[in-house]
Amino acid sequence: MPRQDLPTSRLPDPVPDVLIAEGWPEYRLLDSGHGRRLEQLGRIRVIRPEPQAMWSPKLPEAQWDKADASFGPNEKSEEDAGNWRFRRDLPETWPVSYRDLRFYGRFTPFRHLGFFPEQMTQWDWVANAVRQAGGEPRILNLFGYTGVVSLVAAQAGARVTHVDASKKAIAYARENQELAGLQQAPIRWIMDDARKFVAREARRGSRYDGIILDPPKFGRGPKGEVWKVFEHLPELLREIRTVLSDTPLFVILTAYAARLSPLSLHALLHEHIGPGNIACGELALREEAGNRLVSTALHARWTP
Ligand SMILES: C[S@@+](CC[C@H](N)C(=O)[O-])C[C@H]1O[C@@H](n2cnc3c(N)ncnc32)[C@H](O)[C@@H]1O
Repeated sequence: MPRQDLPTSRLPDPVPDVLIAEGWPEYRLLDSGHGRRLEQLGRIRVIRPEPQAMWSPKLPEAQWDKADASFGPNEKSEEDAGNWRFRRDLPETWPVSYRDLRFYGRFTPFRHLGFFPEQMTQWDWVANAVRQAGGEPRILNLFGYTGVVSLVAAQAGARVTHVDASKKAIAYARENQELAGLQQAPIRWIMDDARKFVAREARRGSRYDGIILDPPKFGRGPKGEVWKVFEHLPELLREIRTVLSDTPLFVILTAYAARLSPLSLHALLHEHIGPGNIACGELALREEAGNRLVSTALHARWTP
């Protein structure tokens, strides 16, 4: 029998889920183990570090030896920097198709490949939410990187504002827009510090129906503004509440590489965005060889 004297906005116990990315022919997690992942991206096979894959690989070494490129991190780097070693000539960028959206895969000076395959479950969810909303919902994508979810939302009919601190990331996002044939889509590409941008939008009285944020553990704005997820996320979510429209659709939060729990993201959304339906859990990739799930990020999703 629930206690009567407790406030009604009492946080219901979350039931974390796992959003599994699978079934995309152009991205396959073939195997993993000994701190690495073996991935097939169209005709390109790569090896990347995966600290969580502490188990043993399933496939014979010969399958790993077929990799065209492997990424070697340099230990001292805060930001996943390191080097790619190529076993054959490979293009720096190559076209990738996800459903009927095209964008570039690319070898970056980091272990990233220009997109995060585990985000495909979020891409589908956002496309569906935008289509169901009808009209031209206003979507804000913070820490947007190369903009795949911005293009997914625009393709589904949204008016998108994409914010990232990196000039390069914004340039890559524009190249993706071109390749996707979405040149006419209403997308604003903004190079700015996420916190500064949201504070300014709040002052201007701008409002958004859906907000997506995927902050790094540590980052810098264009003018060196420091972003530390543990320090700045609560404040950013508080500001985000002030730019949500009166007909909000969703707030989607993902987090990487930090000692965080989906339970914390759940509590944060409840406190700063307010009571609503809050899902939380992990994003994971399904591995083909051993059917193991490789967790890559945390997620929380608020809907009214
Ligand atoms: C993990 S990536 C985001 C990935 C993206 N959501 C996706 O799915 O493709 C984090 C991004 O945050 C950006 N960033 C770091 N600090 C920032 C800041 N203070 N303001 C805005 N963007 C920032 C980085 O440039 C990087 O592109």
